[in-house]
Amino acid sequence: MESEYTKEQAIADFGTYVSPQKVKVYQALGVDFVPGRREGARIWDLDDSRSLINLRSSGGVFNLGHRPPQLVRVLKEALDNVDVGDHILMSAARAKLARRLAELMPGDIQYTIFSSGGGEAIDVALKLARGYTKRAGVISAVHGYHGHTGLALAATDKFSEKFGPLAPGFSRVPFGDADALQDVVGDDTAAVIMETIPATAGFVFPPDDYFGRVREICDRTGAVMILDEVQAGLSRTGRLWAIDEWEVVPDVMVLGKGMSGGIYPMSTTCYRPFLQAFFEGDPFSHVSSFGGSELGSTVCLEMLNIVSEPEFIAQVNSMGERLAAGLAQLREAHPKVLIGVRQKGLMVALLMADDRCGPAMTTALGERGALALFADFDLSVLQVMPPLTITAEEIDEVLEAMDGALGAVGEKLELAAARA
Ligand SMILES: Cc1ncc(COP(=O)(O)O)c(C=O)c1O
Repeated sequence: MESEYTKEQAIADFGTYVSPQKVKVYQALGVDFVPGRREGARIWDLDDSRSLINLRSSGGVFNLGHRPPQLVRVLKEALDNVDVGDHILMSAARAKLARRLAELMPGDIQYTIFSSGGGEAIDVALKLARGYTKRAGVISAVHGYHGHTGLALAATDKFSEKFGPLAPGFSRVPFGDADALQDVVGDDTAAVIMETIPATAGFVFPPDDYFGRVREICDRTGAVMILDEVQAGLSRTGRLWAIDEWEVVPDVMVLGKGMSGGIYPMSTTCYRPFLQAFFEGDPFSHVSSFGGSELGSTVCLEMLNIVSEPEFIAQVNSMGERLAAGLAQLREAHPKVLIGVRQKGLMVALLMADDRCGPAMTTALGERGALALFADFDLSVLQVMPPLTITAEEIDEVLEAMDGALGAVGEKLELAAARA
């Protein structure tokens, strides 16, 4: 049946029943690609006419590649024994996963609340901060992105503008500017929330002393420090948690995307013991029917055990170095288009000449067998987040595609320089 459903039909039905506007955008970008077969770092078009190396990984959902065999096996076994579980009852699968998270988390972060998606887990973090502190204020970062659910949307830049009135009490300061943060955090601040490495902003890194100062400001004022590692966590940066680089322990850490292993939605809000006091009055003051599904918890535990292995993290760093070496050569070859690179592990931003370059690179790479998207808040940046399991051969393939794509973008935008 499925083989008779053609790519043309899928595009027509998607346009008629899901979103005609999205179809137009995909076509304009030249990525009118309908994922069919998928395996490892690669996805094939539904008509099998071409394949792309996935440099998007859906923001980390596919950290372990598409359909990672070990996780598929664990999910199949779990399906023979459990189901989503009853969220009101205790759960062995959730207990085991929460214990493992506590073992791996920075500092004394101990407790976990489970959800299905990242935005929902951010909502939980902000509810917890407001409930515990009995304050309303939330400060997030300019160009921060935390999702499209209620409180997460209010903490998110740009996208939230369309949906007012939003939840009250939210304000924003530039990411990386501790003085600006200090000026606005006050007695009414429940939480300071930010991505450890803002992703939609184009993988921006803060000054070295920034998170230490954020920690100190929160300690002094009683605001809860929340870090969103939905994209940056789970060994993406070459460390298990992105914040490990700065050796700061937040009060709450939010995880999503890669927690699913790409096969079962899962997100978590992990927090330090003092916040547990909020639940003294009513332990059921937050519930979620599918949060921490037992099937998902089983998959997630296996995923965590894989990405926290020292050998796995060493491999992420080794592939990151290979990519970095290739990108340094590409900078020399295309100096007018590729003007810089920001990189930690396999979280990589290509910094290009101007805002035309990001969309043009997405198209040019699509034509050369790789899928990568420009940063929503900075169109001059191309986000590159391959599966953490990408091989050396695939990295080389990607670099070759990038070489051709940078050349094409340079010519198209008349930015081409004489080759070094
Ligand atoms: C940093 C960050 N936080 C939160 C979210 C929201 O996650 P979800 O789309 O699963 O709700 C995203 C999604 O892209 C994200 O990138």
